Amino acid sequence: MKLTAIHVTPVAAFDASQFIDYANPLFDTVKLKEVPNDSYLTSLNKYSGITCEDLPNSEPLKNFIVDCAKEFFTGLGGDVDDYDFQVAGLWLNEMASGTYHSLHNHWAHTFSGNFYVRMPTNTGGINFKTPLILINKFKMKVKEYTVFNSETTTMNPLAGELLMWESHIAHEVPPSTYDGVRRGIGFDVDLTEKNT
Ligand SMILES: [Fe+2]
Repeated sequence: MKLTAIHVTPVAAFDASQFIDYANPLFDTVKLKEVPNDSYLTSLNKYSGITCEDLPNSEPLKNFIVDCAKEFFTGLGGDVDDYDFQVAGLWLNEMASGTYHSLHNHWAHTFSGNFYVRMPTNTGGINFKTPLILINKFKMKVKEYTVFNSETTTMNPLAGELLMWESHIAHEVPPSTYDGVRRGIGFDVDLTEKNT
């Protein structure tokens, strides 16, 4: 028998470590909001709000994200000359030990992702869920998880890594216990077809 994986979901990883020294001080200078305790979506403790404008001197990072998006799009088989690429949102997240970010997607955008600025030892990763979980399908008991039966894929990025995925992909950050504060910069990228 031969099994073939169909409808594969890509997640792209990039080395963005050159932006760590830019990003870390932002968490001390940009005013972060306290997240209400009754938020159903997240218990992350601080959040900048989804806006690029609050981040000073963010052009180099935004340009880098656009370059990553173009590389990702090329890898998917697209032609970057057919589209305009724009960073639609860029925001800071701080997560204390034990906090979580519930399953969600960024459906209004094309690509989304996170730049991992500080990842304390034992910080958990990020879980991605297959869109196929929305289908009312047969739930099998699994002896061994493989690409053919797994609904969740966990990635464990290190500080300095930037992950990017298609915005409709559901993702979550489960709680974990660690010392210090986890920091990341989330982002959305929009692709607009050029009028040629
Ligand atoms: Fe997200």
